[in-house]
Formats: sequence, structure tokens, C-alpha cells
Amino acid sequence: MPDEIRETQPPKGYKHTQKFGGTLTSEKEGKIIALANRPFKYIDEQLCNLISTGIDTKLKGAVDQKTNILDLGSGTDSLACKQVAEKYGKSVNVVGLDFFPQSAGKDNISIVQANMAELPFKDESFDFIFSYQALMFLEHDNDEAAVEEIHRVLKPGGYAVLDWDSVGYMNGDIKKNLTDLASQLGLIWRSTILEREDRRSQMVHVLFKPPVDQEFLGKFNEVHERFGIKE
Ligand SMILES: C[S@@+](CC[C@H](N)C(=O)[O-])C[C@H]1O[C@@H](n2cnc3c(N)ncnc32)[C@H](O)[C@@H]1O
Repeated sequence: MPDEIRETQPPKGYKHTQKFGGTLTSEKEGKIIALANRPFKYIDEQLCNLISTGIDTKLKGAVDQKTNILDLGSGTDSLACKQVAEKYGKSVNVVGLDFFPQSAGKDNISIVQANMAELPFKDESFDFIFSYQALMFLEHDNDEAAVEEIHRVLKPGGYAVLDWDSVGYMNGDIKKNLTDLASQLGLIWRSTILEREDRRSQMVHVLFKPPVDQEFLGKFNEVHERFGIKE
């Protein structure tokens, strides 16, 4: 994987539209993608805690081997990746993947320009995947491909923390199709709705590839019980 990528060429069909206050936007057929660069510490508190707990749990089980972490839709400057890489140091390899990456790699970071629905990685490459405010930008015909790709690149026993439909992006049918597909693949899918600091609610999903990591499932259940809004 490349150490450094500084390309900002949009993928086929997209064109950059505006840049304001450091935020670039891109557009395909009228659909706008905001290219944010949120640092990890600003990711909503409970989601951030869940991601950290996920990594901590993985690290406990990793003896003498690095934990491979993937940030799907990491943003133009991949700030969350950088902070995760700094926080966990040499015990992790972090890969940030985005259509529009613009971030220098470091010892334990690779930045990759690719589509979340076509991951350029070998099967069973990652222990942990996270994604913040990115999967909802997929066009719906790519949703199933993204679930298949997450399943393919997770190692057995790996898991993913995603905020896929925090803005009500998935309607009931889409979510049902995706969770049905996940169970056909053998993934275990759990969701919760967390209240954000700004009092808006946010749906968070955790996908486990068997064997299910019981410790992290327990942690997820605890977060759901303590902070989840009961429907
Ligand atoms: C709102 S930003 C969030 C970025 C970062 N996760 C954060 O929280 O700051 C959404 C990101 O998803 C990326 N993105 C959207 N669709 C994508 C796709 N199909 N493949 C790869 N990246 C995509 C965009 O380029 C953008 O950087």
C-alpha cells in the first residue's frame, strides 16, 4: 500500500464543486458529498467510546501481532485515522480509505483512494473497521456490495462499528435487505440509537464476523442498555 497519496482527482462521474472554510464538496448528478475532516475526539462521544472500546478489546486479544484497522470514508485529511494511529502507536496499522484522500501516510498509516463498495484489500485483512458519516453517501445500488466487502475483508472474529443510517438514510426495506444479506453471509448485526451531544439521535450498527467476540458484544450491549434510546 502507498505511504503517501496526495491525489485529489475525483473518481469517475464526480466533479469538485466548491471549497469553503477548508471543506471541499463534490458532486455527481446533483448529489453532493461534503468532504469533512473530523478529528476522532470530535466524533460524538458514545460512538467514539464504542470505537475506542472496540480497538481496546481487539488489542487485548492480539499477542505479538499488529491490529489492522480500516476507516471507511475517512475524509480528505483523514484526521480520525491520524489520531487513532497516534493513540495506539506501533500496536496498530491504520488504513484510511476515501474517494478523495489527501493525507500523508505515517509509519502506521496508509491512505488509500478507493470506493467503499469495492475494497482493494485481500480477504480477511482487518481486525476492526469503523466508519463515521460516510456510508450514507453510497448510492443504494452499492449498499449490498459494501456489506459483502465488509464481510470479505474482516478477519474471522473481527467486527465493524458503523453509523450507516444516522440521518434516516435507510428506509425499513433497505435495512431489512441489508440485514437479511448480512445474516446470509453469517454476519451478526446489532443496532442501537444513541443520543448525541447536540440531542439529535444517531443510529449505530455493529457487525460481527464469527466467531463473535463475546467481550465486545457484552460492551456493545452495555452501551445499548445505558445510553440507547429505547424504541
Ligand atoms: C461527511 S465525510 C466524513 C469523513 C470522515 N469520516 C469524518 O467524519 O470527518 C464523508 C466522506 O465519505 C467519502 N465517500 C463518500 N462516498 C464514498 C465512496 N463510495 N467511497 C469512498 N469514500 C466515499 C467522501 O469522500 C467523504 O470524505
